[in-house]
Amino acid sequence: MFKHVIVRRPGRSLIEGITSANLGKPDYNRALQQHDGYIDTLKNRGVKVKILEAEEQFPDAVFVEDTAVLTERCAIITNPGALSRQGEEITIKEALKEFYTNMETITAPGTLEGGDVMRVGDHFYVGLSDRTNEDGFRQFAGILNKYRYTASTVKLEKFLHLKTGLAYLENNNLLVAGEFVEHEEFKKFKRIIIDETEGYAANCIWVNDAVLVPMGYPKTRAAISKAGYNVIEVDVSEFRKLDGGLSCLSLRF
Ligand code: GLY
Repeated sequence: MFKHVIVRRPGRSLIEGITSANLGKPDYNRALQQHDGYIDTLKNRGVKVKILEAEEQFPDAVFVEDTAVLTERCAIITNPGALSRQGEEITIKEALKEFYTNMETITAPGTLEGGDVMRVGDHFYVGLSDRTNEDGFRQFAGILNKYRYTASTVKLEKFLHLKTGLAYLENNNLLVAGEFVEHEEFKKFKRIIIDETEGYAANCIWVNDAVLVPMGYPKTRAAISKAGYNVIEVDVSEFRKLDGGLSCLSLRF
């Protein structure tokens, strides 16, 4: 169960964030409202939410998940692969000092973004993507081994991040979309296959026995509900315009 969540308020520079989505620029005020709704939903799941101030010099800084990977035994501060995002991790590291004494760091030439990391028990799957490279993985796996965790790689073909197409919902249940539907590595899970018309909805998060699902994806909502979960819809449409989603918007630990 998670006790804490860290989020960062979107800055006005959000509209300049990196995107491949072709959905237009996000509306800043609507993004703020959606961020409020996201925070309220998390608070209702019984977690304490620490809200960091916006960082205008980093348009994508609202997507805090990419800047750290948090476990019970250590915090690993990443080195984001997107050049314009390098430096977002500095204030995250500061914020984490309140919670962690064991802090580790991924350093250049290694790059790694938290969106490429999916935890299943004590194992961490790491997407090799445009944002996370072999050296980043090598450093990350070395750190994890030191803390008695394991890690393995998954080569990405099209997705931005590993968790663009996968979400682990605990109890061996895994949401799979697109290039991961036929991936051998994931056939051992109870797979919930995301309909190809709802690909964005693969980015869900399990939070303390409920699953947060992006608003507007009824097939996904029904499939997760059928698997026995309490499903909560959250509107993150403005963040979708920047290829971001429910997982990217928080660090949960
Ligand atoms: N816009 C989020 C990202 O590309 O990292």
